[in-house]
Amino acid sequence: MSLALCGSLTVGSSPAQAAVDAYVLRYLDAKEPVELAIDETRETRLFSATQLSEGKRLFGESCTNCHVGGATLPDPTQPLSLKALQGAMPPRDTVESLVAFLRQPMTYDGSEESPSCRQIPETWLSQEKVENLAAFILRAAQKAPGWGTSSF
Ligand code: HEC
Repeated sequence: MSLALCGSLTVGSSPAQAAVDAYVLRYLDAKEPVELAIDETRETRLFSATQLSEGKRLFGESCTNCHVGGATLPDPTQPLSLKALQGAMPPRDTVESLVAFLRQPMTYDGSEESPSCRQIPETWLSQEKVENLAAFILRAAQKAPGWGTSSF
């Protein structure tokens, strides 16, 4: 709880992040803050529409070239759908596991570093920003219609 409160205060204090995206409200069903699993204990944390909107913006700026609509254009067998995220080794269906992947992308079986995805060092995105990005992906994978299709 205290974490969620802290998160919303931080976001509220930064006008640059204040915009709420209509897609987030409508398709991510985030008029109220949404609970997302943080780690494999399935403990959850709340993410607000503002935080998810920042995640969507970051995704749009840096990821849609290869991952439009949650697909993976260079490798369509590995989209950002919930099923694909859950099937990875280790699974990528929590905020922390997604953040770990984004800090160091790995191949699907977890055996080696992947040169194909875009790595996000701390010098580029802070922990808070990369968590919002991960939260957007996770919520979209859970909720957004048509997200992460592997056939197109
Ligand atoms: C140049 C193309 C490219 C860009 C840009 C890119 N990715 Fe990827 N991404 C890939 C490829 C290819 C894979 C599969 C990697 C592999 O298995 O080696 C992948 C895999 C992933 C996965 C794992 C999918 C799964 O089913 O387990 C996630 C999550 C992901 N990318 C998120 C992102 C995010 C977030 C960004 C933006 C910061 C991003 N990617 C930018 C190409 C890209």
